[in-house]
Amino acid sequence: MRGCIPCYFFQVAFAAMALTFPPSTLMAQDAHFHNAPASSNQLKNPYAGQQTAVAAGARLYSANCGACHGSAGQGTGNIPPLAHGPTQSASDGEVFWFITTGSVDNGMPSWASMSEQNRWQIVTYLKLLKNSTSATTNASATGDFKPVKTNAPPPQPPFTDFRYEEPGKTRKITVQDLPAPYATATASNGPQVVARPSGAWPKAPAGFTVQQYATGLYNPRLIRTAPNGDFFLAESSAGDIKVFRGITSDGKPERVDTFAAGLNEPYGIAFYPPGNNPQWIYVGDTESVVRFPYKNGDMKASGPPEHIVDLPHGSGHWTRDLQFTADGKKMFVAVGSASNVDDPDTTPQEKNRADILEFSPDGSDMRVYAYGIRNAGGGLAINPKTGELWCSVNERDGLGDNLVPDYITHVEEGGFYGWPWWYIGNHQDPRHEGKHPELKDKAIVPDVLLQPHNASLEMTFYEGKQFPSEYQGDIFASEHGSWNRSVRTGYEVIRVPLHQTNRATGDYEDFLTGFVVDNGHVWGRPVGITVAQDGSLLVTDDGSNSIWRVSYTGHL
Ligand code: HEC
Repeated sequence: MRGCIPCYFFQVAFAAMALTFPPSTLMAQDAHFHNAPASSNQLKNPYAGQQTAVAAGARLYSANCGACHGSAGQGTGNIPPLAHGPTQSASDGEVFWFITTGSVDNGMPSWASMSEQNRWQIVTYLKLLKNSTSATTNASATGDFKPVKTNAPPPQPPFTDFRYEEPGKTRKITVQDLPAPYATATASNGPQVVARPSGAWPKAPAGFTVQQYATGLYNPRLIRTAPNGDFFLAESSAGDIKVFRGITSDGKPERVDTFAAGLNEPYGIAFYPPGNNPQWIYVGDTESVVRFPYKNGDMKASGPPEHIVDLPHGSGHWTRDLQFTADGKKMFVAVGSASNVDDPDTTPQEKNRADILEFSPDGSDMRVYAYGIRNAGGGLAINPKTGELWCSVNERDGLGDNLVPDYITHVEEGGFYGWPWWYIGNHQDPRHEGKHPELKDKAIVPDVLLQPHNASLEMTFYEGKQFPSEYQGDIFASEHGSWNRSVRTGYEVIRVPLHQTNRATGDYEDFLTGFVVDNGHVWGRPVGITVAQDGSLLVTDDGSNSIWRVSYTGHL
């Protein structure tokens, strides 16, 4: 399967000629976890289930792994979670093998120098995370932690970091601003999520008020407003979809229910057909698209999930956002890459990943709609004014603090956005020197370049009536926050003004900030974003496991 040049040509051919092929050919090969050799499956964990090994593993994990993978294995930025996903379905032996080998080009160190005993203890601990309740509360309960100061000099504009984020501040990164690869060392600076310090609260521009709409959630991720005004929330680690109805006078839900449970890392949610009277709710699980029967007002699914289509899956980016075209004829599904920058030509696991795929609503007629998009699985949106598809993208790591910018862009049909051989137009990734010169000038420069490593997730168009008229039609997006940057950035909601033109000029603004405590600690991480029927903005936060509501209450 190595040297799979044709995979690449297929991709291009599909994109360029709009060929279709039956969805069955899309079924991802059931590859071993990170290509683990079959022999690794035979390795027996000498400590499986032993309490002392779990305790030792927990200490080793927290000292060596938590900064990147999150204190409870929940994942940080675009570093994969370990408490759920492929690590939990792989065998102990495969996980042991991968920890030993690492994936150095993709930012995962090799731990071969750690004793075998310690590596098994970590595996033992990891396997217990699956059903652990500690993953429900990322935050350390006590709130006492040692501050992590940085004396880094102020960032060179247009780049910034958490110390300089400020609601209303405009930013613009252009191609000319990009530094050379490796201009700075690659950082490993995942946050420790701590309890919200007393007095800390998200900050919005003057005239806006921020309330806490819901708390005590379990890994709240994507949120979408149903045509009747209910809010549908994916709790991905819990495997369920919750529904919230109404907003009381003190800004709380009137009713909450669980619409569906038992899903496999659900993330994307879409109502079908588009319009005011949907009949189905489609959900993007990590390995497939499923749908539930739905009519306006349902708080519980009236039937079991119906399987629509399998999706490429395996390691790496696990979120699958989805959207329907305004006419309901096509469904877009974003499937992020399996790795940081592995070459799809030689890595079968990357087939049909780092793409936006297109299907008919019954799951047939798959084709690649746009490609070279490292991970748009966190956020697809249709501009309600133009019907155009947009996406919010996590770009690659390992090239230094100020490379590669994440981005938000409208998506060109058949468009190539660079990954993994090129980035932001005609810049070659040094890890793929000399490859695919013919694609150099095909690689599209995205509309809005964001701070590198921001981890841009869900985006939405503002069509509400509550915010001042200048906000009409603008984009809001949640920035989950960096790990691959020496001074952290993101951990905010941004506004991309379209200036009533339906086009982005490249500028964007900080909108909701204040989630960072210091360079080692954060208490909140925006993921999902949606506009309520009353025109307020709801923002999910899987750091404090809550939903924030931003309303306009002032007068200009
Ligand atoms: C510097 C950051 C960093 C540290 C520290 C780190 N990892 Fe990773 N880890 C990563 C990245 C990045 C990936 C994704 C690699 C890829 O996709 O090829 C990863 C992937 C993994 C995976 C595979 C997950 C999946 O879904 O595919 C496992 C298991 C894992 N790491 C375990 C560990 C353990 C155990 C430790 C501590 C001993 C550790 N990691 C420390 C960055 C880190």
